[in-house]
Amino acid sequence: MFRYETAGESHGQCLVATLTGLPAGIPIAIGKINRELWRRQQGYGRGGRMKIETDTAQLVSGVRHSETIGSPIAILIENRDWDNWTEALPVEDYAGSRENRKEVTRPRPGHADLAGCIKYNYPEARYILERASARETTARVAVGAIAKQFLAPFGIGILSHVIGVGPVKLNRLAAWDELVALSEKEEVLLGCVDSVIERQMKEAVDEAYKTGDTIGGVFEVVARGLPIGLGSHITMDSRLDGRLAQAIVSMQAVKGVEIGFATEGAASYGSKVQDTIHYDKQRSAFHRGANRAGGLEGGMTNGQDLLVRGLLKPISTLRKPLESVDLPTREPSQAAYERSDVCVVPAAGVIGEAMVAIVLAQAFLEKFGGDSMGETRRNYDGYLEQVKKF
Ligand SMILES: Cc1cc2nc3c(=O)[nH]c(=O)nc-3n(C[C@H](O)[C@H](O)[C@H](O)COP(=O)(O)O)c2cc1C
Repeated sequence: MFRYETAGESHGQCLVATLTGLPAGIPIAIGKINRELWRRQQGYGRGGRMKIETDTAQLVSGVRHSETIGSPIAILIENRDWDNWTEALPVEDYAGSRENRKEVTRPRPGHADLAGCIKYNYPEARYILERASARETTARVAVGAIAKQFLAPFGIGILSHVIGVGPVKLNRLAAWDELVALSEKEEVLLGCVDSVIERQMKEAVDEAYKTGDTIGGVFEVVARGLPIGLGSHITMDSRLDGRLAQAIVSMQAVKGVEIGFATEGAASYGSKVQDTIHYDKQRSAFHRGANRAGGLEGGMTNGQDLLVRGLLKPISTLRKPLESVDLPTREPSQAAYERSDVCVVPAAGVIGEAMVAIVLAQAFLEKFGGDSMGETRRNYDGYLEQVKKF
């Protein structure tokens, strides 16, 4: 079983991830992890924090001579901003620390502040927001970068693009080559494959900036090269659609998920929605009339591209704050403002890729297993032979 955990607070020393259950012999390049971390930091509409950090991963166990060795992998990513927070968030308390705490006493509507304070019994929200922050996703992206490197030798690729920012939408599918080109760009605006739509998206972000507001949107993750039969129809927890939905909605600020053309399908008719089945006798292969199901039927991959979308709400820290209550006095007050992003949809796409890569790597290992890449490869090739003979 491939599992992972993350630890770390937004302004703590570092972020940490541990991974267990990956086979020995996966080729690992730290540069590829760092490239994903860099992609997560980009996008028009990010706040000042991303200018402070240059995220780089240190692999402190489980990888030797550029390959996994089967033992648990541990990853550290330092927070440069920690230098500014050592007095506010000390590990050991010290005399006079009270004045240096950067207390957040006016909870932000939409953030974890108020529910977290009440649940953990804190009078103010500093410790809650430190962990609720999407800074945590830096560790997830590092884990996802390793999952991608596990899947790549099997011909599986996972990329994303932004298809909506506020009211501006891209109303077409992206070609795989467009997604590859987007992922290789050295300057990221809003992560949209269409430059005209991207400019309109930028205008929508500018409008939000001007008015002290924030803006949400939609990203789409595409996974290509998947074998038929990852996941299963047999139980609720083996269905890949359910597992992907959990992984995507577990991302901070993501409030909805769509697989294939679910929204369109719900407003249409069965005859228009299903992907018809055809057989090419010359190639001895099935093919489909369309991919409206987004590559999943019965909770299993069906060999078509996987299409998963995440719907982000506009983030909740506003320069023009909303109504809230001051916790010590219980008087009406404006919500707290702390340096914040205005639009995070391109970054969320990269995090979405990581989440999809992790779920797919888990499903892949459940099906093919293996303590070494050689064993996984034998099992995989044997299955492909079986599929070919079907
Ligand atoms: C990449 C990324 C960056 C984010 N940056 C901010 C931010 O700067 N300010 C903020 O209030 N929320 C930000 N969020 C969203 C909050 O982390 C999130 O709204 C909060 O933890 C409450 O969780 P919920 O919205 O999922 O309910 C960000 C989310 C993502 C995915």
